[in-house]
Amino acid sequence: MKEKLSADYWQNRYLEQTTGWNAGSCTRPIATYIDQLEDLDLKILIPGCGHGHEAQYLYQKGFRNIHLCDWAQEPLSQLQEKLSDLPASHFHQGDFFALQEDNFDLIIEQTFFCALPPKLRPQYAQKMASLLAPTGQLIGLLFNFPLSQEGPPFGGSLAAYQQLFEAYFSSVQINDCHNSIKPRAGKEYFVQLRP
Ligand SMILES: C[S@@+](CC[C@H](N)C(=O)[O-])C[C@H]1O[C@@H](n2cnc3c(N)ncnc32)[C@H](O)[C@@H]1O
Repeated sequence: MKEKLSADYWQNRYLEQTTGWNAGSCTRPIATYIDQLEDLDLKILIPGCGHGHEAQYLYQKGFRNIHLCDWAQEPLSQLQEKLSDLPASHFHQGDFFALQEDNFDLIIEQTFFCALPPKLRPQYAQKMASLLAPTGQLIGLLFNFPLSQEGPPFGGSLAAYQQLFEAYFSSVQINDCHNSIKPRAGKEYFVQLRP
C-alpha cells in the first residue's frame, strides 16, 4: 500500500483506474466561467490537473498559455499527447508546492484542494497567492461538507474557508454553487480569490 496521499499513491490510483473524482469532462461551473473569458493570452494554471478536462476545454477554445501541474506522471503524459501544441515546459510534473513558474492571470481549482492533507491548507493558500499576477485570480470549486478524518475528498465550512483565505487574499468571494454537475449538486461552493 502506497503512503496515503503521496505521489506514488496518486500515480497508483491512475494506474489502477480508481479515479472516482474524474468528472469525465470540464464541469459546468468551470465551463460557464471559461465561456465568458475573452483574452486568449491569459496565463492559466491548473494545479493537480489529473486528466485536465478544464485544460482540454480551454484548448478547444483556443487558449494556449495553459500550464498543468500534477505529480502523477500517468495523466500528465496522456494530456501531453492530447494538448500537442503546448510546449513541454508547460507540463509541470512534480509537487505543486515546489512549482517555480508564477505570474498567472488565472488559476483553476477543481478537486485539488480537497485531495490535499488538510494540514497543508495554509500552505496551499499562501502558495496560490504567490503564484498569481497582481491582477490575477483563483476560481473554482470547494466542497461544502464537514471536514472529517475521512478523505480524500476533504470538505470544510464557509467560515473556515473564509478565515483561511482572508489571511492571504485581499478579495475572497465564496458562494453556494448553483450550476454544479448532478452528483455534486448542493455539495460545493464556487470561489473567487484575488491577491
Ligand atoms: C482528486 S484528484 C483531481 C484531479 C483533477 N483535478 C480532476 O478533477 O479530475 C487530485 C490530483 O491532485 C494531484 N496531487 C495531489 N497532491 C499533489 C501535489 N502536492 N502536487 C501535485 N499534484 C498533486 C494528484 O496526483 C491528483 O491527480
